[in-house]
Amino acid sequence: MAVRETPRWDRLFAERTRGDVGEGIAAVLAFLGRPDLISFAGGFPDPLTFPRERAAALLGEFAAAGESNAFQYAPTRGLAGPLEAIAGRLEALQGRRPADDELVITSGAIEALELVGKSFLDRGDVVVVEGPTYLGAIQAFRSFEAEVVAIPMDEHGLQVDELERRLADGLRPKLVYTIPDHQNPAGVSLARERRELLVELARRHGFLIVEDVAYRELGFDDEAEPSLWSLAPDVVMQAGTTSKTLFPGVRLGWAVGPADVSAQLVSAKQNTDQCAGALGQRLFEEYVRRGWIDEQLVQSRSLYRRKCERMLAALERCMPEGTRWTSPKGGFFSWLTLPDGGDAGDLARRAVDRGVAIVPGSLFFADGSGGNNVRLSFSLVEETKIDDGIERLASLVRP
Ligand SMILES: Cc1ncc(COP(=O)(O)O)c(C=O)c1O
Repeated sequence: MAVRETPRWDRLFAERTRGDVGEGIAAVLAFLGRPDLISFAGGFPDPLTFPRERAAALLGEFAAAGESNAFQYAPTRGLAGPLEAIAGRLEALQGRRPADDELVITSGAIEALELVGKSFLDRGDVVVVEGPTYLGAIQAFRSFEAEVVAIPMDEHGLQVDELERRLADGLRPKLVYTIPDHQNPAGVSLARERRELLVELARRHGFLIVEDVAYRELGFDDEAEPSLWSLAPDVVMQAGTTSKTLFPGVRLGWAVGPADVSAQLVSAKQNTDQCAGALGQRLFEEYVRRGWIDEQLVQSRSLYRRKCERMLAALERCMPEGTRWTSPKGGFFSWLTLPDGGDAGDLARRAVDRGVAIVPGSLFFADGSGGNNVRLSFSLVEETKIDDGIERLASLVRP
């Protein structure tokens, strides 16, 4: 009997799924699975922030009360109570309450980005992103065959004046994606005057700003610039997440934007997952209603602040001259620039041999630049291992 060859399914994979960015994420996740490494790699929350007992108590309450909402399908836009909880938080934290037809509950922020992509992007459409930016966003936009164009950043966030120049030269994006607060991976925030200019450009040139606020509530102090959505709800679609404030095990987030955009997202959502999981929605609603989220945030912010300060102090102590890094005021990341000629890919490989995981910067650029950058995440690494991890890393950077 003739032996049949195993089918090579990748030959049949859709064109839009090819490319190496997905492999990049897989490489990052592979590091996370190795408990022997001191990992500055993944941008995961610290399990110390997970509200295990409270989540268990709430589940017990739902069961005892014979509640069915938490266990049933939900409306595509979301359950009324959780929508109210998110709208109330937006009002309290960002100073603007969305109308009922402006808010959709999503299965995490990443789904909000997918829904925007699905609703707006045809092959070859231009999406402007920050250089560097969140890898998941590059993937989401690429999966709709968009052309992803990066505009550089500096310590004050996206260089909006450079975007203005590119627009004047004829760049015509449908979407401009930005993470204005404690950016992933750069660890910087967008300056106030740049926020004003960005929304003005959106109005002038007719593009939609996609504002990702994944780390907004994790500032180390109370200072926050106004969200882009609160400045210009007519041209901004904000994607938010509960992954860093509750826990990522319930995939939950929101999209808030102009009513017609919101309606389009609801329609796109009907044939992705139809609705975000009701159980997570109800947990979040109660977590907000009882004030637990604010209690937890006080603890989470101080934990991440402590870890960040420890990492920055270790960098200061150990890194050779010519190495630079950003000083985050919140979030999970600092962005390191190696001395001239440094090769972050090579460093990442050698670091694994010394028991340390980092992510080379090129993964955060659509065009593979960032060869001498490293993203350092302080969120998940054990506090007591930070000094040792940075010392080992620095010994590999030193000439
Ligand atoms: C900037 C940014 N947006 C979105 C996400 C994903 O959020 P979610 O877990 O809600 O899908 C992350 C997670 O790392 C992120 O860093």
